[in-house]
Amino acid sequence: MHVLITGGAGFIGSNLVAYHINKGDKVHVIDDLSTGRIENISLFLEHLNFKFDEVDILVWKELEKAVAWADRIYHLAAVVGVFRVLKEPISVLATNIAGCERLLRVVHSTDWNTKLIIASSSEVYGNRFEYELLSEDMELHISPGHNSRWNYSISKLADEAFALSYARQYNIDVTVVRFFNIIGPNQTGKYGMVVPRFVHQAVRAEDITIYGDGTQQRAFLDVRDAIIYLDLLSNNPLSRAEVINVGTAREITINQLAYLTKEFAQSSSNITYTSYEDAYGKDFDEIYHRKPNLEKLLRLTNHSPKWTLEETLTDLIQREQTKEL
Ligand SMILES: NC(=O)c1ccc[n+]([C@@H]2O[C@H](COP(=O)([O-])OP(=O)(O)OC[C@H]3O[C@@H](n4cnc5c(N)ncnc54)[C@H](O)[C@@H]3O)[C@@H](O)[C@H]2O)c1
Repeated sequence: MHVLITGGAGFIGSNLVAYHINKGDKVHVIDDLSTGRIENISLFLEHLNFKFDEVDILVWKELEKAVAWADRIYHLAAVVGVFRVLKEPISVLATNIAGCERLLRVVHSTDWNTKLIIASSSEVYGNRFEYELLSEDMELHISPGHNSRWNYSISKLADEAFALSYARQYNIDVTVVRFFNIIGPNQTGKYGMVVPRFVHQAVRAEDITIYGDGTQQRAFLDVRDAIIYLDLLSNNPLSRAEVINVGTAREITINQLAYLTKEFAQSSSNITYTSYEDAYGKDFDEIYHRKPNLEKLLRLTNHSPKWTLEETLTDLIQREQTKEL
């Protein structure tokens, strides 16, 4: 199979590269290396089944050719991470919406039955903490209001609307996945992701810094399970033109995560607290609760995650300790 991965030098993308190369597929990555890193894919650069182009999806002239070659496309290229979203509110909207729309337009124009997976996010649910479970068909409340943080959610919702419209109007075979807090190897803490940041701090015996009071809850899914879900969804015709949560059911507070990371790393770090204002600037809207309804995912894939949070943390701590040596 021929697999094109936009944003393939990033965290989720590079794990997908390893997965498909190991399966014997041919993989083409396009990435502008804005948050992605060449080290994430350096193992594959000389591989006969691997090709990499450092390009911007918005303007790259050979996108048509790359799309016409592909049996499956994962569209992951996006401006991501809370810090980057707050710092570059316009490019979040411009890149994420225009990149996705351009790709859909090109897929339509190539007249080739490519399977397209588009990465959306649990951020589209906004601040729905009163709900126990976040379901794909619930109404969404997002306010562009006073805070640019919602630009990311708006960009992902626009991508979803484009994807479903191309599916309806032109019969494009597209599936939208709403990722909930994916963690694992190659994720960087540089742009605000909590798990790699805590692991980095614990291994170096630096303060483990919690933003807010640490009572906010998250459910973390290992990327190696996430990519199995993506593969199973891609192979299931019933996923066509659907929006599907990809996550896990087990929630943990950020306080518990900090203590668990410290314990597993056998670290002497202190656990400290930073206000949202100090971390992100004024008027930051935190999401306190984010738990996916996974019925649809389970029905379409019949897969249960293999990695527990404890196993992922142990693995990430070992990798970080090896880096330190
Ligand atoms: N990691 C998560 O928990 C999570 C949660 C929700 C949604 N997502 C979505 O999944 C996708 C992958 O996220 P990730 O965590 O791997 O982030 P990432 O930053 O590691 O990956 C995004 C990649 O896109 C590339 N990119 C950005 N703009 C580009 C452009 N104009 N042209 C070409 N490449 C470009 C970056 O260099 C990077 O390699 C994103 O679309 C993100 O919104 C991830």
